[in-house]
Amino acid sequence: KSAPREQFTGQVGFILSAIGSAVGLGNIWRFPGVAYENGGGAFLVPYLIALLTAGIPILFLDYAIGHRFRGGAPQAFRRIKGWLETLGWFQVMICIVIAVYYAAVVAWAASFFVYSFGLDWGDDPQGFFFGEHLQLADVGGADPWLTFDFVAAVLIPLVLVWLVVVAVLAAGVVKGVQRANIVFIPLLLVAFGALVVRALTLDGAADGLNALFTPQWDALGDPDVWIAAYGQIFFSLSVAFGIMITYASYRRRRSNMTGPGLVVAFSNSGFEMLAGLGVFSALGFLALESGGTVDELGIAGVGLAFVTFPAIVSEMPAGALFGALFFGSLVMAGFTSLVSILQVVSAALQEKFALSRTAAVLWLGGVLGVVSVVGFSTTTGLILLDTVDYWVNNMGIVASAILMCVFVVWVYRRAPELRYHLNAVSTTQLGAWWYACVGAIIPVMLGIMLVQTILIRIDEPYGGYDETYLLYAGWGTVALLVVGSLVFWAFRWRGPGLYRAWPPY
Ligand code: PHE
Ligand code: NA
Repeated sequence: KSAPREQFTGQVGFILSAIGSAVGLGNIWRFPGVAYENGGGAFLVPYLIALLTAGIPILFLDYAIGHRFRGGAPQAFRRIKGWLETLGWFQVMICIVIAVYYAAVVAWAASFFVYSFGLDWGDDPQGFFFGEHLQLADVGGADPWLTFDFVAAVLIPLVLVWLVVVAVLAAGVVKGVQRANIVFIPLLLVAFGALVVRALTLDGAADGLNALFTPQWDALGDPDVWIAAYGQIFFSLSVAFGIMITYASYRRRRSNMTGPGLVVAFSNSGFEMLAGLGVFSALGFLALESGGTVDELGIAGVGLAFVTFPAIVSEMPAGALFGALFFGSLVMAGFTSLVSILQVVSAALQEKFALSRTAAVLWLGGVLGVVSVVGFSTTTGLILLDTVDYWVNNMGIVASAILMCVFVVWVYRRAPELRYHLNAVSTTQLGAWWYACVGAIIPVMLGIMLVQTILIRIDEPYGGYDETYLLYAGWGTVALLVVGSLVFWAFRWRGPGLYRAWPPY
């Protein structure tokens, strides 16, 4: 007989943990760049529409599935329909793939937190990050694309990240996950808030904010801008790949779910706005110092955090403190997201194989930790990371969301049941509009996005990389998601089975 399910102690623990998952590296470095490239101030229109028509409705769908069926993704879907367990494992596979590279970025941020104190990057942040820190191989056309030349400066922090995250997961939902979030999320808010205030008072901040917020209204007629908005919302809220299902399953039965859901969604977007202000103020400062314009600076992706920000820090009075706040924020935001991704895997292993929490966490830490270190602490780690990240986000997560809507809403017609479940215990009531979102708007929008992405990738090789490499690292990632979910599904279910949902309808 198994122990009763773990539970968050209360609403605050749950909300902070859900915010901890949502607020991640994407808020700090992804949102400002995406907004900037897709219409500036005008981007807020598609962004808000995407939040209301897709982000929040699918967040509620995740919550409803996890809370009603009280399981990690495979168990919850299995309780909807036996074979749908495969969709749960597909989501677990997405989490596995993301976790192994996300941990590496958290580890880089931890190193840069330390480097900040001595401004170790000197006057060549670009050479320092790619050369000295990552020791990136010279990969013309991404060949050779996989080396086993390990880089100690990456490997050691990465091993430490895995040890800490395993310790947190092993301590359980209350003493591990919830506690980490109760400590880190308020601390993150203070650290990042201080950073934004400092950035806003820098010379040139106004120019940076103008560069970000000056609206290009014609962008609203560009379908790519709308696709970017829906993509940003999905990634940013961490919906549709098992995380919110898993966290909701640890929420006490008679709990308000939609109220906290709105708090989480708006906190996440608020944090993105905050990041937009901070990042672009700082970019305005750097542009002024270097006598150029914001448009000439490196704004997207890893370059923003690990090259451009160090350059800013070096130019500033008391820059070391600013750098420590920035990289400290990245570590906290990233770590709490990493915890949530791995809790999905831990819950799934516990439930399917009737493992104790400790056993599940040790398996997961042992296998994934090794894969993560072998794949991402070598001289080709960054290239693999970039490729896998693109495929899993733009194809894996999007496909997962579409499948959820198709099977849960259309094929097995569970939307009314899930709606009444939430309404019975929640303050904000879901109306029929919710059916329109999860039944039509989301699958249609995402369907268009997925087809577009696939066509583009068939047309031109991603990042200009070698095609054979992309076949393995990119399309291979998709194959891994599918094969992995079938393999896990094939094992016999050893955990708890029959279940009476509550409240009963
Ligand atoms: N939502 C997180 C962010 O905005 C990203 C994330 C991705 C979190 C994957 C968990 C899992 O950065
Ligand atoms: Na986010």
